Amino acid sequence: MIEQIRVGFDNFSYVIYCPAQKKAAVVDPGFDDTKNLQFLSLKNLTLEYVILTHYHSDHSAEARHLKEAVASALIVASAEDGRRLSEKPDVVVSDGSQLKVGNIVLSFLLTPGHTPGGICIIVDGKAVLTGDTLFIGDCGRTDLPGGSLEEMFQTLQQKIISLPDSFIVYPGHDYGEKPFDSLGNQKRTNKTLRARTLKEFSLIP
Ligand SMILES: [Fe+2]
Repeated sequence: MIEQIRVGFDNFSYVIYCPAQKKAAVVDPGFDDTKNLQFLSLKNLTLEYVILTHYHSDHSAEARHLKEAVASALIVASAEDGRRLSEKPDVVVSDGSQLKVGNIVLSFLLTPGHTPGGICIIVDGKAVLTGDTLFIGDCGRTDLPGGSLEEMFQTLQQKIISLPDSFIVYPGHDYGEKPFDSLGNQKRTNKTLRARTLKEFSLIP
């Protein structure tokens, strides 16, 4: 199960949880983990992982606080972005890594472009949490330190477009006309997924 939680102005955090085994992972707690902690408590869930899609503070700031609140929780990030975090990751994931949360299987994709070590998380082969790699109707900025237009284009073309249309895309910000969407619909309508060449991609306003 995936609970989408609005954090701050327009960030989305997520609780991925297994109702059978009462285990959970929080993705991108952002600047305020109050609602995450409330949800964990409401559902009586044990927090196993705090997963950071990338190092930017609007996604990662409260990771340390969550870890202090739940001593058993492990911070998960890529090696590249992990070294840019103030709180070092306990678990380093790379392309193809998997973790289990109760009966739920999480698979990781390394998706550079917004940051050098951004990751996307595939949940049980049904959904993908895209952080600041893919938004509904757009993709993440590539003009911040460590960002790369070329890498973002490769990521979208090679990693994202090859995922099944049936996947539900859960982005890291509420920037679109809806909070989530099917990847099939995004492939048809998202200008950043429709660009066929790097040149076309680079000309998107
Ligand atoms: Fe970001």
